[in-house]
Amino acid sequence: MSQVLIAPSILSADFARLGEEVRAIDKAGADWIHVDVMDGHFVPNITIGAGVVNALRPHTDKVMDVHLMIAPCDAYLKDFADAGADIITVHAEAGPHLDRSLQAIRQLGVKAGVSLNPSTPETVLEYVMDRVDLILVMSVNPGFGGQSFISSQLKKIERIRSMIGDRDIHLEVDGGVNADNAAQVIAAGADVLVSGSGVFADGNPDHYQKNIQALRG
Ligand code: DX5
Ligand code: ZN
Repeated sequence: MSQVLIAPSILSADFARLGEEVRAIDKAGADWIHVDVMDGHFVPNITIGAGVVNALRPHTDKVMDVHLMIAPCDAYLKDFADAGADIITVHAEAGPHLDRSLQAIRQLGVKAGVSLNPSTPETVLEYVMDRVDLILVMSVNPGFGGQSFISSQLKKIERIRSMIGDRDIHLEVDGGVNADNAAQVIAAGADVLVSGSGVFADGNPDHYQKNIQALRG
């Protein structure tokens, strides 16, 4: 498997200085920039929209990995693609037409991701495996940073890794990933780790590089 990628979540960044924060994690060695979009409906929190992705785009050339925790999602896909998202991930639970949403993302020229809540079985992926570039396993219930990793998800990660087989699909894990459990998550089959509170921990940009390195193990 290729080297593990680290995608810091800007959910834990200083929202008043987001451009600077993105430049800081870029410089500190982030592989992707993970953007958590929440609507106060699909999840019990509201964050940012396509306008912010658009505003951040000039601050980095790294992959902008947009995680949509919104329902419905289809009406907003074009806005995020136009804003400069490289990957748009939708939740399998966000609506009845996952296959349609994934096709719509690819038609916009963007890589398509699907995310599963902790209680959602991996079987929902069976008929969309050829429509996705990324599978995102939520290892917390989405909505907030700083929650504890739900260890039942390790089994799911292993199962999805075997479903992926030799397909070119990233397996990303999001929620409660830290320096203590990263090795286990990677051993289970993840190749992209999201971390919000772990990377931005004390808000000191001088520590971001060390925090990112700690996740690589
Ligand atoms: C949670 C978000 C995550 C979150 C991760 O709903 O999708 O990306 O910010 O934050 P930590 O690493 O603090 O669990
Ligand atoms: Zn996320």
